[in-house]
Amino acid sequence: MHKTVNDIIAKKGSKKISVVTSYDYTMATLCDQVDILLVGDSAGMVMLGYENTAPVTMDEMVLFTKAVSNARENALIVADLPNKSYENEVDAISNSERLIRAGADAVKLEGRLPNIIGAIVKAGIPVMGHLGLLPQTAKKYTVQGKTEADAEILLSDAKALQEAGVFTVVLEMVTSETTKKITETVSVPTIGIGCGPDCDGQVLVIHDMLGLFEKLKPKFVKRYLSLSEEIKKAISQYIQ
Ligand code: KIV
Repeated sequence: MHKTVNDIIAKKGSKKISVVTSYDYTMATLCDQVDILLVGDSAGMVMLGYENTAPVTMDEMVLFTKAVSNARENALIVADLPNKSYENEVDAISNSERLIRAGADAVKLEGRLPNIIGAIVKAGIPVMGHLGLLPQTAKKYTVQGKTEADAEILLSDAKALQEAGVFTVVLEMVTSETTKKITETVSVPTIGIGCGPDCDGQVLVIHDMLGLFEKLKPKFVKRYLSLSEEIKKAISQYIQ
């Protein structure tokens, strides 16, 4: 039996909710011991070679979600609604349903969109929120919540998402002070990426943590392996 949304909510306060991104069958089988496999739209960059996540389509997300779902035995699967797939409630619900049919247990979307989130939740689909740096629309990748005013806005956004019914919130590149405040205030788990230790869980892009993606190296990422070096060495030995 795989993890459920309630299993994740029950880990609020533990600082131990583990999330990695996953896009394909083989890697998903290797990572399935985590709490959540996130079929992130970062797939657009690390799997499809796009400059950013903006061009990712629903068809692409459905394919990645199917592949991960074929591998999963343990983790909860959350799939990203890609850019422009949730501009109104009708699209948001029908696209969320497509991801659920492809094997996701829940969907994630970016920003303070309580009406859209509420509509998806009302349709019976759990939603993970995403605040702070929002890669689908960001012009620059900078740390969020630095001033008192920005921190207040983020805190109010997190409360609005909780009210709308999210079961978790991803915080991306938010200062550690603001992250701590949000984590202590909201009753749903916070999952941080580049936010420091004071979240209920952490998420990393699997290609970053394994040292597999050489084009972009976010400063906050702890690398557990240098897999790209290992692969290049192996290929070179094979050629010899
Ligand atoms: O698409 C993704 O990988 C994400 C994470 C960075 C949270 O949204």
